[in-house]
Amino acid sequence: MTTPLLNAQQLNWPVNWENIFDRKAPLLLEIGFGGGHFLVDLAQKRPSTNILGVEISLPALDRAQRKIKTGALSNVRLLQSDARYLLQALCAPEALAEVYINFPDPWPKARQLHRRLINVDFLHLLATRMVPGGLLEIATDHADYALAITEALETTPYFHSRLPTTFVTEDNERLRTKYEQIGLAEGRTCHYYKWARCETAVPNEFPIPKEFPMPHVVLQSPLDLDAIQARYGRWQFSSGDCHVNFMELFRAKAEDALFVETYIKEAPIAQRLGLVIRQREPGNYVISLHELGFPRPTLGVQRAIGQLATWLLGLHEDAHILHHNLQPDVWELDVSHAT
Ligand SMILES: C[S@@+](CC[C@H](N)C(=O)[O-])C[C@H]1O[C@@H](n2cnc3c(N)ncnc32)[C@H](O)[C@@H]1O
Repeated sequence: MTTPLLNAQQLNWPVNWENIFDRKAPLLLEIGFGGGHFLVDLAQKRPSTNILGVEISLPALDRAQRKIKTGALSNVRLLQSDARYLLQALCAPEALAEVYINFPDPWPKARQLHRRLINVDFLHLLATRMVPGGLLEIATDHADYALAITEALETTPYFHSRLPTTFVTEDNERLRTKYEQIGLAEGRTCHYYKWARCETAVPNEFPIPKEFPMPHVVLQSPLDLDAIQARYGRWQFSSGDCHVNFMELFRAKAEDALFVETYIKEAPIAQRLGLVIRQREPGNYVISLHELGFPRPTLGVQRAIGQLATWLLGLHEDAHILHHNLQPDVWELDVSHAT
């Protein structure tokens, strides 16, 4: 194995983890592994399991990667990603046997509370991706976050405590993480939650996002690229839980094309990508997705291309669509005649 680091952008939705680890074994996940001590310890103590660590911090990923290489551990993979994206897009239902969340960021200020990872909604998502009976361990040294975690765990119908109590404040069996050592050294009480996913079915309200064939719209317009560029202005729109922001427009010097920098947010994905309006011959345009940076052709991308095409059509009364491969429900216009 050359590197344990996976490229989140190039992984399928969902990932076949047995292919990634090259063997069938229970999949254990640590969310926010920081320096990676706990993750590496887990990998050493449980060689017959596949272990996945997810982190958003690049320096943390670097440090953990070095530890894994030094320990020559072949049963660990790392991913730079938001945990919610990993769970919803990359994990099939019941993919995970165990999940560890050690000292998640507490986001203590009132205006930051919405950033906390653990709440009832997150536990519901987690439950859909865990096997019935799968183990969930959470630890925190933040008193206020502990109250919120306790309330969320006691509210969710999808997990139950493996202990007689909701949490314990001492656990001498596990390796102490860096933040645990800091918390204890500074005199804070740690809360350890040892829970399990219930055996009952969990309704999956978190579908794995879908990818579509590379989208395109072909249209005819009497306007040339200069005229189209001159009429462009930034704009944004929302449709359901999909938000699209059309940002800067650039003219390609060597090509007959305009590039529209576009931001698309549709839970659990956010993408910043380029849409292209390319002139194939005078008056004949193709709107498509630029492939630079491995963009994912989601429904949100389809909506964005549909909007851009609708805007272009609105610039001239003789403009019309010749062909497209977008889903019918992404259009606000009737374009059934053009498919
Ligand atoms: C307070 S540190 C704890 C690190 C380590 N678990 C420990 O106990 O020492 C929280 C870690 O979670 C990571 N993190 C925060 N939000 C995350 C998310 N949504 N997905 C993945 N990692 C996240 C942060 O980058 C940080 O390294």
